[in-house]
Amino acid sequence: MLVVIVGPMFAGKTTELIRRVERQMIAGKTAVIFKPALDSRYDASSVVSHNGLKLRAFVVPSDEDGVRIIEREGAKYDVVAVDEIQFFPPSLAEVLDRLAYGRLVVAAGLNLDYKGEPFETTMRAMAYADKVVSLTAVCKVCGRPATRTQRLIGGKPAPADGPRILVGGAETYEARCRRHHEVPGRGIRP
Ligand code: ADP
Ligand code: TMP
Ligand code: MG
Repeated sequence: MLVVIVGPMFAGKTTELIRRVERQMIAGKTAVIFKPALDSRYDASSVVSHNGLKLRAFVVPSDEDGVRIIEREGAKYDVVAVDEIQFFPPSLAEVLDRLAYGRLVVAAGLNLDYKGEPFETTMRAMAYADKVVSLTAVCKVCGRPATRTQRLIGGKPAPADGPRILVGGAETYEARCRRHHEVPGRGIRP
């Protein structure tokens, strides 16, 4: 069984991943959580949510080597969880799909980057999923459900020519709804 948890930043993806893994551990299952090495926020060897929940994690490189480690090591457990799947190459999706025969796989990832463009690995994992859990955050402008992530540089919306990967938290990102998500320089939208 493959469960994919998706949404913008602050939607509660990591919280939900930890909750699902903990329940399995209480039921006596062996479980492992993987996370990409480039996400060094808060703690290098734990998965940590924005509200401080924490579970020990197996840190792997965010490249094909990391994907191979997840496939090999994950096969030794009843439950395999992977956080921040958007940072791994798209080949992770096939590995998650293969691991999901015979064990529970729970994967969490960002739906869209700061420009509003889909993360390929998350899209691919969603296509293989038995269940997609789509979460929303709260828009920091209007308080309605937020499906997008606003990148802010010096308090202003970041232009579209920045790097795709920029690890950060509330100092650089805000949850926003469709109406309030802004990408300067991207042109006029309908
Ligand atoms: P994710 O992994 O999706 O970024 P986390 O599980 O790490 O989310 O954090 C979710 C928590 O973030 C919420 O429970 C809440 O305490 C906090 N939070 C901060 N800003 C927001 C926001 N704009 N909308 C919703 N939750 C927020
Ligand atoms: P989160 O979903 O657990 O909040 O973590 C998302 C991470 O992804 C965080 O480190 C910021 C990073 N990120 C990017 O690298 N590029 C982006 O376009 C966005 C929106 C987030
Ligand atoms: Mg998270």
